[in-house]
Amino acid sequence: MESTELTKKGAQGSRVKAERQQPGVVVLSRISAALSGLWDLDAILGVGLDSALDIMSGTIGEILLIDEDTQSLSHIVHRGLSKEFVDNVITSLGEGITGSVAQGGKAVLLEDISKDPRVAHRELIIEEGLKAFICVPLRAKASVLGVLYVASRVPRKFTTNDVHLLYAIGDQLGIAIEHARLYERLRGARERLRRLARQNLVAEEEERRRIARELHDETSQSLSGIALQLQALIELSEMTGKQDDEFVAGLKKVQSLTVQVHNEVSRLISNLHPALLDTLGLVPAVRQHAETRLQPLEMDVSVETRGTVMRFPPEVEAALFRFIQGAIGNIAQHSNARNVTVLLEFRPDEFTIKISDDGHGFDVSEITDVEESGRGRGLFSMRERIGFLGGTSGIESEIGKGTTVWASIPIGQEIGYAKNKSTGS
Ligand SMILES: Nc1ncnc2c1ncn2[C@@H]1O[C@H](COP(=O)(O)OP(=O)(O)OP(=O)(O)O)[C@@H](O)[C@H]1O
Ligand SMILES: [Mg+2]
Repeated sequence: MESTELTKKGAQGSRVKAERQQPGVVVLSRISAALSGLWDLDAILGVGLDSALDIMSGTIGEILLIDEDTQSLSHIVHRGLSKEFVDNVITSLGEGITGSVAQGGKAVLLEDISKDPRVAHRELIIEEGLKAFICVPLRAKASVLGVLYVASRVPRKFTTNDVHLLYAIGDQLGIAIEHARLYERLRGARERLRRLARQNLVAEEEERRRIARELHDETSQSLSGIALQLQALIELSEMTGKQDDEFVAGLKKVQSLTVQVHNEVSRLISNLHPALLDTLGLVPAVRQHAETRLQPLEMDVSVETRGTVMRFPPEVEAALFRFIQGAIGNIAQHSNARNVTVLLEFRPDEFTIKISDDGHGFDVSEITDVEESGRGRGLFSMRERIGFLGGTSGIESEIGKGTTVWASIPIGQEIGYAKNKSTGS
């Protein structure tokens, strides 16, 4: 029986002949190409093992990764091994051949593993018929993440050159595994942030709705009550003629101020959460908002619909309304347009929004991030809201010609609910 323990340094030593290095380089660049662009750990390990087997002209092999919690090796991907073998071989770190490669970080090359004294599951290995065996660590920086082995049931002599090649594959895989784990962690963190942002938007919308309702039920009602009382007092004073003119004029002034404050509160309520959105839905709410926001600026507004108008769940309608409100706010603030068109298109599988103005436009490529001044925040949160609905959005603008903002969201069973019979105007 031949048993060799090799360090990478040893394998890379002068014994490796120059003519054997060339195929190795080719092979490694092949593996590197196969692994590049892969971020999913399972895919990386599957491709890595298959490539290693291909290079070694083998059919039996496995990748095991260290489980830090249990200090054992977990079977991740294997080829050519029976289910019984994989299910029953449980290896602790430092135990048996694979366990010691994982712990010590040194490769092991055996002519017949079933006869090696260090083996941990001899009976299972004999049953499985494994003989020639070569095992390398999967390393990233200074730590070992797992092991990769290739085995054979027929007599075969792996060479030190094979070890050298497999070492290099193991190192490539180790780095790819580390990148995949980092990517996964980043993706998880990003996903958590997105979830948080989404929850914030929902909470913000609920809070706006609650304040709007309270303002409507308490403040607004009281103000209209006061205005009515004042009106009644004015009429009574004028009828009886008991009060002097100055007093009646004072009453009229207070009454007109009350009406003004009442109108302000109504505008505030509508901005916070338009009642129309809950009662009649998106189209009337958008029409009312666009007209009250843009007509006073002498802009000509048209809100058109195509397809069969349908209602969406309240949180979806609220998000779509906020998107449109953002675009209309920008038109009011920045465009200097004369004509504005809002097109809402209801298709069976998709809902699209297109808001166009003929204002002076702007350079879209300038807005790459949210600036210190807050410029860009509006567009960013508009895009996020549509993203949360699983949709896409964009903005196109040409200086001197105008701007078009669009969004499209898919309509599945979970988004669209009550289909109205009426068609939009
Ligand atoms: N319809 C438009 N016409 C002309 N310029 C626009 C239009 N829409 C957006 N812009 C330009 O894009 C910039 C970014 O818009 P965004 O809504 O992100 O920020 P903002 O409107 O400046 O700030 P906020 O929305 O927080 O009030 C605006 O400052 C403006 O220069
Ligand atoms: Mg804005």
